[in-house]
Amino acid sequence: MKKILKFTIYILVFLVLAYFVAIFAINRPIEKWDWQNIDLDQPAQVSKDFIWGVASASYQVEGHHDTGDNWGWWETQVDKNGKPRVLGKAGTGNDEWNLYKEDIKNMKFLGVDSYRFSVSWSKIMPKETQFNEEALAHYDQLIDSLLDAKIIPMITLHHFTHPMWFEKKGAFDKEENIKYFVEFAKKVFERYGDRVKFFATFNEPMVYGYGRHITDTHPNPYGDSNFQRLGVMLKNTLIAHDQVYEKIKSLPNGANSEVGIVKSMMQMDPYCKYDLGDQIVAHYAQKLFADAYVNYFSKGVFNFQAFPVGADVLYKNPTPNNIKLDFIGLNYYSHNAFNLEYLNFDLDKATLPLYYPGEIPTDLDYGYYPEGLYRAIKDISQIKKPIYITENGIGLGEDKEELRKEHLKTAIYDLSKAIKEGYPVKAYYYWSLNDNFEWDSGYSKSFGLFKVARDTQTPTRTPKQSALLYKEIIAKAKQAVTETKK
Ligand code: GCO
Repeated sequence: MKKILKFTIYILVFLVLAYFVAIFAINRPIEKWDWQNIDLDQPAQVSKDFIWGVASASYQVEGHHDTGDNWGWWETQVDKNGKPRVLGKAGTGNDEWNLYKEDIKNMKFLGVDSYRFSVSWSKIMPKETQFNEEALAHYDQLIDSLLDAKIIPMITLHHFTHPMWFEKKGAFDKEENIKYFVEFAKKVFERYGDRVKFFATFNEPMVYGYGRHITDTHPNPYGDSNFQRLGVMLKNTLIAHDQVYEKIKSLPNGANSEVGIVKSMMQMDPYCKYDLGDQIVAHYAQKLFADAYVNYFSKGVFNFQAFPVGADVLYKNPTPNNIKLDFIGLNYYSHNAFNLEYLNFDLDKATLPLYYPGEIPTDLDYGYYPEGLYRAIKDISQIKKPIYITENGIGLGEDKEELRKEHLKTAIYDLSKAIKEGYPVKAYYYWSLNDNFEWDSGYSKSFGLFKVARDTQTPTRTPKQSALLYKEIIAKAKQAVTETKK
């Protein structure tokens, strides 16, 4: 009897130890800083050639998407309960298509060096076999106006949307469709490559793919969730990226271009640090949504493998010593607090708030977590390329301008700290210049430095307090650089 008791105690002690060893092995420390004691009014510590910018995407700001875009289709769809997939339609929106000169004036007011925007594939290629000259000429004018204002353009080729004809063929879910994207990219580069140096092939394929194949927050033509399908799609976007990179480099002006990809580095944290279940979910989320990409662009291996969700995609770059990337774009917003229940993948569960008790919620599913930008920079720096922060911002209603301002200051602190420690951060783009169309949330979320009134005949832009702050931050940083040079 005594022996059995002893044995049972040993087993229990062993299990408890194993539980904590497992947690220790996969835990990624969640940094929390004492912001009260940090001076947030220090000028940014950046080099002379640091790029300050603002970012946007065509579907979110241009309006006039009547050229057969897959998001136009998605806006007409409802879920199984009859609820519209998208809260309202993009419509004329900010009408940047016509009002871009006003936006450029506002960029000048801010004092930014660069504007990151995307070109609309469906406007440029409304049909598989047709390029639209009017659309191509429109971007000529946008680019020329930016250059006249001494603002450097950065073009994103795919920012979440594409033509419906491409969607009908299966989009990036099928490897044989990559050629259409390469053809589009070629056309864009041939047209603008003499004036535009910076190109991002894809914006956050992971976010777009996860919305498409798992949560239905992006156009999903299948009606179900499937991790294997997501993995295959992601692999195809990597192949597409590599092919576009090669294509651009082979064209006139290609050698002078910088071609990168933009990756969201949401930090994947466990809801409860001492709960092995939460730790395991956070671990897989980190492996699939962050590490898989980082590994591809650092070691040439894309390992999207997680047996609990049936994902088994392994892709090796055929030329691992030739990583096709001139810069890595980093988008950072927050961290997700992963809960074991999240593994359920019940879509209603997936909309559970992802922030911690006590954390200030933003207007999205996640909380206010400014330390994460620094962590994201460290993570992405495993890719040994210059880091351009291609998006950072916060979704907050107008009454929370104080928090938006504080958030902006923390971002400047984070990036300065990272630069001081030797991380190669070369640019910072605020998301976004204007309040705009936030995908399935429609116009209900506000990320802009400028507020946009869309109920008037012509949408009007008004600077928020955060716009004035950004202007001051940029001016101070430039002044500090000039002073140190003296
Ligand atoms: C993304 C996109 C942007 C969003 C922005 C705010 O990260 O989802 O790049 O299109 O609008 O990030 O959520």
